[in-house]
Amino acid sequence: MTPSDTLKNRQALRRQYRQLRNQLSDEQQITAASSCLSVCLQSTTLSRAKIVSCYLANDGELDPQALMQFCWQHNIQVLLPVLDPAKEGHLIFVDYQPTSPTRANVYGIPEPIITIDNTVPIENIDLIFTPLVAFDNTGNRLGMGGGYYDRTLAAIVENKLSTQLIGLAHECQQAIQLPTDSWDIPLNGIATPAQFFKID
Ligand SMILES: Nc1ncnc2c1ncn2[C@@H]1O[C@H](COP(=O)(O)OP(=O)(O)OP(=O)(O)O)[C@@H](O)[C@H]1O
Ligand SMILES: [Mg+2]
Repeated sequence: MTPSDTLKNRQALRRQYRQLRNQLSDEQQITAASSCLSVCLQSTTLSRAKIVSCYLANDGELDPQALMQFCWQHNIQVLLPVLDPAKEGHLIFVDYQPTSPTRANVYGIPEPIITIDNTVPIENIDLIFTPLVAFDNTGNRLGMGGGYYDRTLAAIVENKLSTQLIGLAHECQQAIQLPTDSWDIPLNGIATPAQFFKID
């Protein structure tokens, strides 16, 4: 496959899997979110974590709202990724509480507002729950195509950080085998409403 075939393939895969997750009903989304929280509690170190990053669901993504509620109730700090105003193409992680004001970013996704003391360096984060468009059972992740997570999470590999990367997904987002490239950062696990894929 040539590089342009890979690109075409990724774009076709994104269309296919985005369509599948957008076809889920509101009821299916709610059931999936609640089952996925149970899977995370059984299979990840969530209940022992001190600082966790989540995301606000968009475009049919598995909704981590119940997971965030669990964290707030158990004194686990919740962060959200925010487009880094100082480093193009990167994310920074910002404290998020139920009362935190948000503002839509250039993609229309709400983000907490950055202040002088509400960002947390990646090395302090125990678990990062990432959204994804598709995953496979070897931990490969296909995102929306911006490369934001890949650029930001590269620090985990480069600095051998212990931060765990867990993808959250609907069952319909599982691919047999995804194409990968040198910059793709693989996941340590994927939680779906039905099961946990642990990657060694
Ligand atoms: N570490 C990096 N350094 C420079 N460019 C990068 C890096 N990671 C990704 N990119 C660029 O980002 C673009 C999109 O990457 P990719 O297709 O893997 O996105 P994605 O994984 O779907 O998105 P995301 O990481 O936001 O979920 C690629 O064309 C690649 O050149
Ligand atoms: Mg990628």
